[in-house]
Amino acid sequence: MDLSQLYQVLQSLPRDAQESIVGNIFIPELLKALGFSVTETVPQFGTGSGADTVDYAVRRNAGNDIFIHTKSNPYLLLELKGRDINLGGNSTQYRSAVYQLKRYLLAPNCRSAQWGIVTNSTYIQLFRKHGKVIHPAFPCWELTLDNLNEVVCAIKKKIDNPQKALTIAVYNNKGGVGKTTTTVNLAATLAMQKKLSLIVDFDPNQQDLTNSLRLKPKEDTLYSWLVNKRDQLVNELITAYQYPNKSGGLLRFDIITGDEKLLSLGEEKLRQMLSINRLRQALEVFKSQYDYILIDSAPNWRFFSQCAVYAADVVLIPTKHNSIYSLENAAIVIKRFIPEIQNERKDGGPIALPIFYNGEFITEAQKLRHLQRIN
Ligand SMILES: Nc1ncnc2c1ncn2[C@@H]1O[C@H](COP(=O)(O)OP(=O)(O)O)[C@@H](O)[C@H]1O
Ligand SMILES: [Mg+2]
Repeated sequence: MDLSQLYQVLQSLPRDAQESIVGNIFIPELLKALGFSVTETVPQFGTGSGADTVDYAVRRNAGNDIFIHTKSNPYLLLELKGRDINLGGNSTQYRSAVYQLKRYLLAPNCRSAQWGIVTNSTYIQLFRKHGKVIHPAFPCWELTLDNLNEVVCAIKKKIDNPQKALTIAVYNNKGGVGKTTTTVNLAATLAMQKKLSLIVDFDPNQQDLTNSLRLKPKEDTLYSWLVNKRDQLVNELITAYQYPNKSGGLLRFDIITGDEKLLSLGEEKLRQMLSINRLRQALEVFKSQYDYILIDSAPNWRFFSQCAVYAADVVLIPTKHNSIYSLENAAIVIKRFIPEIQNERKDGGPIALPIFYNGEFITEAQKLRHLQRIN
């Protein structure tokens, strides 16, 4: 990739360049570096939500479908700020820019958009959209002449090779809140919407996920796959779970069942053999195959749940209306455990999804008490 123009531009931009200057000078070169031509770029793209426009929408032309003419099905949105806006250090201005980008990504004319960028040319961050879930694909990087090449190449590589799957850890520090029930039912619900899920039983001490489907845990398969990195085990690892729907057709999701060996070895031993990122690495091969990868996690902040949260793009935290403790524990996950993993991963992930109630019956009084506690 020839980034010499972009280098020059970045070097020449005044330190306090306002949005219009960054837009005129930096953005055309950035988009070119990401592989988009002028006819593949629409400035001030109408999002279809009121009068909202996003600064730039881009998409590759396909035959006669020239994006600048058809203005349909954008692929990537870019929200631009001036250098006078501080996008660093999780500032208020950064958060409001991200909020704005997320709103645009979810707007009617942007359904097809899979990526969003926020930048002021000093900072840049790429976000990914999967369905209605938007999560960081990278941290918010400070852009310098030294890392320009690395940063632009990394962004280009992501957007040129989009992953199909969204990886979700179903985790609450508290047990008995519906993690396993949610994992199974979510996979079944998604199957009804023709989405293929892989669910992973990563709670070796209970193996409830495996048992709830009346399957047998394997001996040594998941263990060998993780510890010995035996990729040829993939076929043995996965069990297809099929069941009839109401109209007599078959629905399906796949499962990686629990493994007795993981249980027998115990946590301390495993910690010496496996690093926290191993599950994430190992699941990589499935990300082009499945729409969703759901990891049923163990309760308590120990090795297995840490691996699961590390492996995830987003964390779904089931809580129960009738248990304030499940809510308190959800708060701990959001405030302590997820930031802990974000700190290790250094790519902006994972992030928490909004508080999720597990669907059990609730009285008005319980609902009120919960809302007060959330506030
Ligand atoms: N939406 C729900 N409605 C009724 N019971 C539920 C619901 N969700 C979970 N449960 C019940 O709560 C108990 C704990 O659920 P489980 O999924 O095993 O929790 P966890 O995996 O967090 O330990 C189970 O008996 C399950 O059947
Ligand atoms: Mg469970």
